[in-house]
Amino acid sequence: MAEGRPIDSTPDPTDPNREQWGSRRGFLLAAAGSAVGLGNLWGFPYKASSHGGAAFVVVYLLMIVLVCLPLLIAELSIGRRTGESPVMALFLLGGRRWRWVGYVLVLNSMMILAFYSVVSGWTLLSLGQNVIGGVPADPASFFGRISQGPEALLGHLLAMALTGMVIFGGIRRGIEHLSVSVMPLLYLLLIALAVWASQLSGAGAGYRFYLQPDFRELLSWSTITAATGHAFFSLSVGLGAMITYASYLRGRDNLVRLGSVVAAADTTVALLGGLVTFPLVAHFQLLDGLSDSTIGALFVAIPSGMNSLGGGGRLVAVVFFLVLAIAALTSAVSLLEVSTAGLIDRLGWSRRRATWLAVLVITLLGIPPAIDNRWIDVAYSLFGEAGLIFGGLMTAILLGWSYPSLGEAELAEGFPHPRAIRWWVLLLRWLVTPMLALLLVQSLRQLPAVLQTFFSHSP
Ligand code: PHE
Repeated sequence: MAEGRPIDSTPDPTDPNREQWGSRRGFLLAAAGSAVGLGNLWGFPYKASSHGGAAFVVVYLLMIVLVCLPLLIAELSIGRRTGESPVMALFLLGGRRWRWVGYVLVLNSMMILAFYSVVSGWTLLSLGQNVIGGVPADPASFFGRISQGPEALLGHLLAMALTGMVIFGGIRRGIEHLSVSVMPLLYLLLIALAVWASQLSGAGAGYRFYLQPDFRELLSWSTITAATGHAFFSLSVGLGAMITYASYLRGRDNLVRLGSVVAAADTTVALLGGLVTFPLVAHFQLLDGLSDSTIGALFVAIPSGMNSLGGGGRLVAVVFFLVLAIAALTSAVSLLEVSTAGLIDRLGWSRRRATWLAVLVITLLGIPPAIDNRWIDVAYSLFGEAGLIFGGLMTAILLGWSYPSLGEAELAEGFPHPRAIRWWVLLLRWLVTPMLALLLVQSLRQLPAVLQTFFSHSP
């Protein structure tokens, strides 16, 4: 394979046998499916409540627009230009020096999926319980049971099996088919839940908490790092999932438009998620419980509230967990596709073989967080936060500093505003790069504290 392509050359004609999305809509729903996930519905309200409510929301929105969207567009252009998943894509663009970054991204996607699948397992088991047995009488002890130990392991296996089955089906028949069938349903159900929640008494207090910023929090480093880390996680940028999805794109679609649609679709769900959860926790007076939150707050808070509502409550709980399960699955699928596509592109393996190996390894990696969920916090800080910020920083350096003309050339296909493209490069170079370098240092500095909490609490 030729090394480091000269800057202005056109990319290799991509492998004619490489799979492709069936339609632009299919790509958009799959990319939105990757972005919309547990991060939006579970992480967003739980983090917003522990970081000053609306202050967190404001920082988050700023980060999405100024940092994550430019990076998302960068990932899309890397993927489409090379027609390869991260390892080969970065090698093709930057040469051997960049290949290790691709490996780090793949490793990161595996580590994230390992704990993501455990949490996805909680949603599957909660959904199963609400459908079959009704809302548990004591949600806290039910959650205690399913969130670590043998049952959590079962949930993790179930989640990995489902994810693996979709990836087995490939791009069109697997990922696209799933996303096109379930994503619209997710939006519908979520809107229905938000409308329902708005009629609860106390909804106003929930909205106020959610939407009135505490401006002191706006300037706190921990809010800024948490909101940025979360924005990355939520938009699925920084680990090559979007590079991978865009590698199955052809044609000259406007990547700026595609990226903006995905970012808007994701942010809408995060905000809607807040419009569901905050009125709900306020109505059931669980706001305090959520802010000194454990990762399970939502899994306990929602069913606790639903218990007092009888049959209607059960229906709402089922819908709620169904939404969570859909969101989790479509994101898990994109995480698994990063390593599967890596094996296919790098080693020339069949999809079947690559999927088996990736599923096996990630299933094993998920055993510690399934058995002891304190691992989830540690893994989230290390891989979900610092890891994604690192990936974002590398992307910004690649297209902002090292090979800006490559990104510009790719973006120019379908986006006819050269001046705006120039601005995009300047943004990557002068805003995104220094900011992420700073945030990376900051989030690495917080790691010892995370580790200390881990080691000082017995399970
Ligand atoms: N964006 C997903 C979520 O919000 C998680 C994810 C992160 C998926 C990174 C893919 C890549 O839950």
